[in-house]
Amino acid sequence: MKISVIGAGNVGATTADALAFRSIASEVVLLDIKEGLAEGKALDIMQTATLNGFNTRVSGATNDYSKTANSDIVVITSGIPRKPGMTREELIGINAGIVKTVTENVLTHSPNAVIVIVSNPMDTMTYLALKSSGLPKNRIIGMGGILDSARFKCYMSLALNCSPADLNAMVIGGHGDTTMIPLTRLASYMGVPVSHFADAEALNKISADTMVGGATLTGLLGTSAWYAPGAAVASLVDSIVNNQKRLFPCCVYLDGEYGQKDICIGVPVVIGKNGWEKIIELDLNDTEKAAFAKSAEAVRSMNSVL
Ligand code: NAI
Ligand code: 2OP
Repeated sequence: MKISVIGAGNVGATTADALAFRSIASEVVLLDIKEGLAEGKALDIMQTATLNGFNTRVSGATNDYSKTANSDIVVITSGIPRKPGMTREELIGINAGIVKTVTENVLTHSPNAVIVIVSNPMDTMTYLALKSSGLPKNRIIGMGGILDSARFKCYMSLALNCSPADLNAMVIGGHGDTTMIPLTRLASYMGVPVSHFADAEALNKISADTMVGGATLTGLLGTSAWYAPGAAVASLVDSIVNNQKRLFPCCVYLDGEYGQKDICIGVPVVIGKNGWEKIIELDLNDTEKAAFAKSAEAVRSMNSVL
């Protein structure tokens, strides 16, 4: 399996590192427009092979898409990240041009690839990549909900003082501070609803912390996060490469599901060798349904800027 990662910045390089470290692919290509950056980071990662015990061949390229030829999966992280105080949505002007051009270049050399979109505003960038490429909808997947869910489980495990591995919890909707929907009602600790272990005030705080999870890190770091985003992309790619059929909240094209059409937004999907294979329609209550409709409205309004 050959995976290309476009953008060798914080998220792209961390993704390549996670893919190699976890031996998810035999070949990983990093590509960036900055002269030497991708080559340098790829070589640095390759030099961890004997230390971390992997056999993945990691290489870099400066804007040479022929090096990405015949990739099975391409992850697009190219673009600018947000600075403190910025929303993901403010990135649209610059990142739309980058994502559109990069998608065209990628598909020229890897016409059969599954495309994973990471660049923000991710829901709108996923929609743009789908519409501009004309690819079958199952081959374009936006990554945001996996990260948001990981943050949700992190905050929950701290509040419940339990292992995050024993928690089952998901965030759906848009990947934005006000558009994401942590599904607290459906969250469980080994199958037992979390409301059994924490009161409403604590659960509301977990949900609120999750929603500003990215902004909190941007405030601390001066740019957006990369370890959890890279690990989240690697888990998504792993499910495609190994046909694991993992159920992940991902940004995919809706055609009537969840009462929405002509939009890419986060919903639970089964991820396998063909990309996203099936949307799971959750039995949402009225409050959750209303939150999802509001989130879709916000994403749709962002798409209209395109
Ligand atoms: P970064 O600035 O560290 O890296 C971006 C890289 O893209 C830079 O190295 C830059 O040279 C490269 N680039 C720019 N234009 C390019 C082009 N046309 N072709 C190839 N490479 C190009 O930024 P970082 O932190 O890696 O974030 C990347 C994007 O991912 C941002 O838009 C950020 O908001 C988004 N992000 C999304 C997350 C999600 O969950 N969907 C999580 C974290 C970040
Ligand atoms: C994050 O959630 C900014 O989307 C980026 O960290």
